[in-house]
Amino acid sequence: MKWNSSLLDHLQWSDTIINREAKEKVAQQIAEKINNGDVIGAGSGSTVYMALYAIAKRIKEEGLAIQMIPASLEIGMTCENLGIPVTSLLTDKPIWCFDGADEVDPDNSLIKGRGGALFKEKLLICSGSKTYILVDESKLVKKLGTNFPVPVEIFPGSLTYVESALRKLNVTDIALRMAKGKDGPIITENGNFLLDVRFEDIRPDYEQRIKSITGVIDSGLFIGYNVEILVAK
Ligand code: A5P
Repeated sequence: MKWNSSLLDHLQWSDTIINREAKEKVAQQIAEKINNGDVIGAGSGSTVYMALYAIAKRIKEEGLAIQMIPASLEIGMTCENLGIPVTSLLTDKPIWCFDGADEVDPDNSLIKGRGGALFKEKLLICSGSKTYILVDESKLVKKLGTNFPVPVEIFPGSLTYVESALRKLNVTDIALRMAKGKDGPIITENGNFLLDVRFEDIRPDYEQRIKSITGVIDSGLFIGYNVEILVAK
């Protein structure tokens, strides 16, 4: 027996979807790539959210059997709501993944994590053999850090140590991300804090250097991953 839940039925994206039309186009592009039997990793963010609608339509119309591994609670709930079967990384390995990004540079390096799901997104990208990154043209930058800071997920008790270690890199600003709709800082799905860090210059070894600081879970820098960028025209 199913619950009769108006909360789930009326689940919507939590904010206004910027560049909605372009995101809709790229959502269609990714929906065309699914094949019967695929286990797919779904990242997070509004572009992924819109792609799920296009994918659910194909599943329904063509009776496809696919399974999705979601990178966030909101994407998992959207899958459930749309009737897309969900599985987890504990039992399944994605054949391929798709995700959004906040910035993409000419080498296909990325900044991700505006939505706070960067750790599970990275786990998915590392687990699958290939990831499609769905963006509109506003996400393309000449240099990482042009429009967005680098999110860094940290163990809460390590806040001051991590801050002092990060300041040894060429940091220009560090902010503790504060919540909206809750007092105090944002708590990630993993129970951690998020720092938003701006650097004078993001160097190629920064992903590794940030990750090597004790207390850091991961950062939103994705440098040198096997990604194909799909840009909505
Ligand atoms: C989520 O934590 C992020 O990494 C998103 O993938 C990224 O912010 C892109 O989001 P939109 O698709 O909403 O632009």
